[in-house]
Amino acid sequence: MSVHISAKKGEIAKVVLQPGDPLRAKYIAENFLTDVKLVSQTRGIFYFTGLYKGKEITVGASGMGVPSIGIYSYELFTEYDVDTIIRIGTCGAYTTDLKLFDLLNVENSASESTYAQFAWGIEGELIPHQGNAFEVINETASSLSINAKATNIHTSDIFYRKDAGIPAVAEKYNCLAVEMEAFALFANAKHLGKNAATILTVSDIIPTHEQISADERERALKPMIELALESAIK
Ligand code: ADE
Repeated sequence: MSVHISAKKGEIAKVVLQPGDPLRAKYIAENFLTDVKLVSQTRGIFYFTGLYKGKEITVGASGMGVPSIGIYSYELFTEYDVDTIIRIGTCGAYTTDLKLFDLLNVENSASESTYAQFAWGIEGELIPHQGNAFEVINETASSLSINAKATNIHTSDIFYRKDAGIPAVAEKYNCLAVEMEAFALFANAKHLGKNAATILTVSDIIPTHEQISADERERALKPMIELALESAIK
């Protein structure tokens, strides 16, 4: 057990897929894995371990935002000896060059967050993906003929804001989209020498206010889930 995860040592696989939403973790476990066991449900944050094509995988939620993924990813890496975390989430596009349902493989996260600096003394606004998971995802996407665009994204603490327009840090690093977790995941992995990647599905286009409807979400997320699972067994 760790402070926030009640799985026993050995009940979490070396590779973890991490959506934000606990019910998405449940959906993935029930629909894509076999021999599934619920290994933690502390605070309603579900972790399931099962098999995908014979390989052990854990799927468990990060919750929303930098503090939450900061906690869960740290405990997975340090208390459960996890080697690789692949975050799978949604993002809002800053540009109409992206379309709803597009898949992004995050190259760097840019953020105004002080998390990396105050937690680990990592300076700077930009943190890259860590280790080889990003490359594995690129190769897997090519082999599956899935288009997953490698790009920089903005990790923000803010979902609702008064000013429209692209925040300065996102502009500066040419971030095409915004989400709320990758920066902390990459910071933890960098500090600990672990592997971390983030795959995102575009769920809303900020300038036009288009968004994927609740009914479309399941279908929308399927290619991302398949890409993450196929990458996880490489
Ligand atoms: N995740 C999905 N859409 C988002 C948005 N517009 N802002 C931040 N995170 C998001």
